[in-house]
Amino acid sequence: AIERTLSIIKPDATRRNLTGAINAKFEAAGLRIVAQKRIKLTKEQAGKFYEVHKERPFYDELCEFMSSAPVVVQVLEGENAIARNREVMGATNPAEAAEGTIRKEFALSIGENSVHGSDAPETAAAEIAFFFSQLEIVG
Ligand code: CMP
Repeated sequence: AIERTLSIIKPDATRRNLTGAINAKFEAAGLRIVAQKRIKLTKEQAGKFYEVHKERPFYDELCEFMSSAPVVVQVLEGENAIARNREVMGATNPAEAAEGTIRKEFALSIGENSVHGSDAPETAAAEIAFFFSQLEIVG
């Protein structure tokens, strides 16, 4: 089925001018960028977005990092978009990411791992609504 998923190009990638290179990977995989904006999160906004991780030891570091430079938030649309995006991203830890994936090519570490993508239909809907109104998504 055609799905939508939320993607974030993270600060380590925007700092290194990799937005276009990462978008090229999405488009080559058949994912359409149907909404996109560059924003700078506050630490509080990052904390709210990643609230499910708040008991994890890396939570504070994660929120500091995500608010350290601009991010590009985007909605990707396509057949099986949630799973397809996770394939294109590769494993969370770049040391474990498959050849040709975004994290294998660009990520610096498990924390500075260049991209975020929703992990399931329910989280995709909630994460898209966190950043976008329906009017901003043009399929
Ligand atoms: P993401 O897909 O955005 O979801 C949660 C993020 O937490 C994850 O990618 C990583 O960037 C980060 N993360 C996960 N595990 C660790 C870790 N062990 N140390 C630092 N950051 C982590």
